[in-house]
Amino acid sequence: MSEVVRLERHGDIAAIVVDNPPVNALGQAVRQGLKERLNEAANDDAVRAIVILGAERTFIAGADIREFGKPPQPPSLPEVIEDMDACPKPVIAALHGTALGGGFEVALGCHYRVALDGAKVGLPEVKLGILPGAGGTQRTPRLIGAAKALDMILSGDFVAAEKALSLGLIDEVSKAETPLEAGLAFARKAIDEAYPLRRVRDLEDEILADRGKSDVFDDARGKLKKTARGLFSPHKIVDAVQAAVELPFDDGIKRERELFQECVESPQRAGLIHAFFSERQVGKVPGLKGAARRPLISAGVVGGGTMGAGIAVSMLLSGLQVIMIERDEESLARGKATVDKILEASVKRGKLTAGSKAAVMTESFSGSTDYAALSDVDIVVEAVFEDMEVKKGVFAQLDAVLKAGAILATNTSYLDVDALAAGTSRPSDVIGLHFFSPAHVMKLLEIVVGDQTAPEVVATGFALAKRLGKVGVRAGVCDGFIGNRILATYRKQIDYMVEDGASPYEVDDAIRAFGFPMGPFQVSDLAGVDIGWMTRRRLDATRDPRERYVEVADRLYEAGRMGQKSGAGWYLYSEGNRRGAKDPVVENIVVQERAKKDIEPKSFTPEQIQRRYLAAMINEAAKVLEEGIALRPLDIDVTLLYGYGFPRWRGGPMKYADMVGLDQILADIRSYAEEDAFAWQPAKLLVDLVERGENFESLNK
Ligand code: CAA
Ligand code: NAI
Repeated sequence: MSEVVRLERHGDIAAIVVDNPPVNALGQAVRQGLKERLNEAANDDAVRAIVILGAERTFIAGADIREFGKPPQPPSLPEVIEDMDACPKPVIAALHGTALGGGFEVALGCHYRVALDGAKVGLPEVKLGILPGAGGTQRTPRLIGAAKALDMILSGDFVAAEKALSLGLIDEVSKAETPLEAGLAFARKAIDEAYPLRRVRDLEDEILADRGKSDVFDDARGKLKKTARGLFSPHKIVDAVQAAVELPFDDGIKRERELFQECVESPQRAGLIHAFFSERQVGKVPGLKGAARRPLISAGVVGGGTMGAGIAVSMLLSGLQVIMIERDEESLARGKATVDKILEASVKRGKLTAGSKAAVMTESFSGSTDYAALSDVDIVVEAVFEDMEVKKGVFAQLDAVLKAGAILATNTSYLDVDALAAGTSRPSDVIGLHFFSPAHVMKLLEIVVGDQTAPEVVATGFALAKRLGKVGVRAGVCDGFIGNRILATYRKQIDYMVEDGASPYEVDDAIRAFGFPMGPFQVSDLAGVDIGWMTRRRLDATRDPRERYVEVADRLYEAGRMGQKSGAGWYLYSEGNRRGAKDPVVENIVVQERAKKDIEPKSFTPEQIQRRYLAAMINEAAKVLEEGIALRPLDIDVTLLYGYGFPRWRGGPMKYADMVGLDQILADIRSYAEEDAFAWQPAKLLVDLVERGENFESLNK
């Protein structure tokens, strides 16, 4: 007898309860249990209706994602759902929490669906690189038509109970307290009023209305060209829904199964599922379990520039009280105006009401030029100029006024957090909180742990990330932490390739073709060519003389080509147009720089560009791991996915390296080292892993 699925009797109604914490996922034992309990209830003459529900927090939240890629174990989910559908007694799904993926497909296989107010349903498989493979693509269009089914399945969005009712996905929204109560009440009516067995597979009206109309599918495919660039499963979803409209149910189900299998076998499924689990694992930092957290009610932000204003907005929207400190009244007014502008944009986009914005600005937000205003806050994030002396001055002032136990955080992108901590009387309260621009939008937060940072300060950093709706990643102290340090390395390879013969535009095209949303030169134009220039000047004093240095970007800077903001950078921007055009002037600068060094240009294929870019990224990432700057490969994957546009469907650079094979990556590095041994020193960790025949995944914990 399976314990994860139990059968309860409530008079003439049987309740089948799935109890498989945390989310009642449909692992093998649950599928087996459902099949057996259903069979029992169906064969019990005293049972007149059957309710299926989930225990604890939710109905079934989907297939057990951990089983994908492993040999299938019977019974399959379609087989279990087929039994429900064919059951001669009314089967009712009573939904609460989130009925997702295979869980919602179970509900679609029932004859009726009742949901508690507050429940959500959805088919989010597309986010995992697959499609609803247990009848979801066939039954959903039979309930709501192909166009709405495509919207739902291609977006993967959750649908709230009321909306699901109005669409026709469910039959009733119940005000009952528990799913059992709701399910029993519905079953009672079904018995007393002799409801017919309403099998979704037999519903034809929507299908017949859609049959012969190819425009729904042509439109969907057209949109995918823009929205699903490089993705596999969305195209298969359109094929599956089209099969629902064009084929008899049983043939459609067969087609769905084939397409599902293609998705399961695709590397994108592996990449996306790795991303799913990594982003849940990333907050579980080894050694931090059980660490206390400090309360967070109020916060200070020092510096109201690009980052400070964004950080203030993010904190305000999470319900924190925020005090902004600036160096003079004029800068303060500017900082406050930026906060106001960002919040106003949220109102315009319908994300915030005008009333809430007004309340936030008057009740939660204030500013001062006097540090004494911060005497009672729980945490301060410093976001002043990237200059060690300026930051040290700020930290000294914070140290003088903050209450005991307050956290002192810096948003520095590169500077030494330990040196900042050492300048205070409380180094264990100092931490780096590296937000990404725009700080109210970007989900990544590097939590930079210094030598002396107290575990509870780190734990509070993670709690803050969660509260702000961000993904916190633990990083150690070094120039650039995890993300910017790795970026600096692969970014250099781009400049080398350009000097050696690739055009900046070929490079951008190749990197986009790999799946990044933007090429590195487009990013440079967006961030500002001056930012890269400042970083290079900061490193002038310490640059190793053996390092190759490319001056093309310096020439752009000297020509005043700062990127989008000045109308020209690597690309040329006509008035009001953020999509740049290729510029022969830049190509000319490149040609001149090559000539100065007597470089005979060679050509690079997109694949060659991608391989060098990725090899540089992975090699530096391995060094970051080796040095303990990142604790686990998954921390690097999440950093690159959330902060640097690495395509999610490739799982992150470490996952990608595992999929390509570490031996191939190392072979590439060694062949490039023949041209430039200084830039291409293989990471010891990478060499060791290859020798041991292991991969990065083996280091995830
Ligand atoms: N399989 C296995 N484990 C799962 C899971 C699943 N489908 N969904 C969630 N979990 C695990 C999480 O990994 C996490 O585990 P740890 O505590 O060990 O980290 C735990 O359940 C709780 O998850 P969250 O931290 O995400 O909790 P939450 O309350 O924030 O969110 C949720 C709950 C909305 C269900 C969210 O977990 C979620 O979106 N899950 C995925 C749902 C999904 O994609 N379902 C479709 C699966 S594919 C499918 O069903 C294919 C098919 O057609 C046959
Ligand atoms: P910015 O130049 O836009 O803003 C800095 C602000 O700090 C200015 O408004 C200035 O008036 C104020 N300021 C300077 N000295 C001060 C002092 N002593 N007291 C109070 N306020 C003072 O700079 P930005 O871009 O916001 O960067 C701030 C920090 O964030 C830097 O450390 C930077 O490295 C980091 N950062 C920047 C990112 C970006 O993309 N711009 C991304 C991540 C981190």
